[in-house]
Amino acid sequence: MIVSHRAAGIAFFGIITVILIIQSFRLHGAPAIRHVGSQLSSKASSDVLNTTLGFQKIFVINLPERTDRRDAMTLTAALTNLQITWAKGVPGTDVPDKVIPGEDWEKSILRGNKGSWRAHMNVLNTIIDHNLTSALILEDDADWDIRLKSQLQLFARAAQPFTANTHQAATVTDPDKIINVPITSIPSLSNESLSSPYGNNWDVLWLGHCGTNFPTSITLATPPTNTSLLRVTILNDPTVPNPEHLRAHPFALQDQLAELYPPHTRVVHHSSGAICTQAYAVSQQGARKLLWRFGVKEALTKGWDLVLGEWCDGLFAEQGRDTAPVCVTVQPPLFSHHFGKGAASDITAPGGGFVDKEKEMTPYVRWSVRLNMGLLVEGAEVSDQWPDE
Ligand SMILES: *[C@@H]1O[C@H](CO)[C@@H](O)[C@H](O)[C@H]1NC(C)=O
Ligand SMILES: *[C@@H]1O[C@H](CO)[C@@H](O)[C@H](O)[C@H]1NC(C)=O
Repeated sequence: MIVSHRAAGIAFFGIITVILIIQSFRLHGAPAIRHVGSQLSSKASSDVLNTTLGFQKIFVINLPERTDRRDAMTLTAALTNLQITWAKGVPGTDVPDKVIPGEDWEKSILRGNKGSWRAHMNVLNTIIDHNLTSALILEDDADWDIRLKSQLQLFARAAQPFTANTHQAATVTDPDKIINVPITSIPSLSNESLSSPYGNNWDVLWLGHCGTNFPTSITLATPPTNTSLLRVTILNDPTVPNPEHLRAHPFALQDQLAELYPPHTRVVHHSSGAICTQAYAVSQQGARKLLWRFGVKEALTKGWDLVLGEWCDGLFAEQGRDTAPVCVTVQPPLFSHHFGKGAASDITAPGGGFVDKEKEMTPYVRWSVRLNMGLLVEGAEVSDQWPDE
């Protein structure tokens, strides 16, 4: 039954020992998370479980004529008890050249990229106009695990070292040092007046992507901060598929996560070279920075996801002034592209054309809501895409 699955998932995720000192640890022989039945108790943490996942709103971008996607998304959201707000997708033909900022924007850019840019700008505009503290932005083919809310509760906790305070660039002892910290060492969310259960100081939480790297001292475009190379690990996460299912597509090289970490580990870190915007949250401050940069100032030269990735990498940081924006991501991602049978994106072919069009699937997501939709509406037991042996 769904209910018992969900209860088991929540129980499994219940969190334990709160060690107040953040310590580095060696991966091998690191203690597994101990699971007990208690939930994180603070209000901030319980807000993550609400119908907008602890954000003020969830926007879903959808081209009005794609009623197929709207139907599927409405059901997917309802089956997870989420409240969504539709944001109209924009056809590229509806974007006149004169509204595109910058003199030297790329005239040969795909029409789909123009429309996508405008649709994302419109959502950022709404977030600012309505003064929302934060919002999650989804594309209409996004999918997630039935256990999303408990996954996000862990993510919110893991994100704290990145989002708690204004970043200090100065006090880094060894900028080349990659530090792995288990989530069990991160204090649970406090009851302080957090503007968001995900922390007070963040720009983007990149929760659904089709690839991101672990940052290294070589990839950093801005001076390192204390958390630039930090990785918060969630060990023995039953929602993470076996390593062989972590590749982005069948011909991809093995996934970095699978190579570096024990099976069933999820890792939260600063985003680096992230691509695809199936799901990302922005704070009010993040929305303002992004709309100024890409709605007002900067010329459009490529797809919005690539632009956002470069922005998160600090490539737009003003010389000598800014540190990189605070963009936190997670591997494997918590949201992913659902590939239906005969799937075709309105921008370009999905997965670079690598996806088997005969097989319906969602990368990285085990108890996919989309794949289980029929079973869920019938009240039947859900199935795992990749059961462990
Ligand atoms: C969910 O929690 C967030 C953060 O506290 C809040 O802004 C939002 O309004 C809540 N959503 C609902 C539907 O109450
Ligand atoms: C926007 O919201 C913030 C708090 O989230 C508040 O301090 C500010 O006054 C609000 N601005 C407007 C114009 O409502």
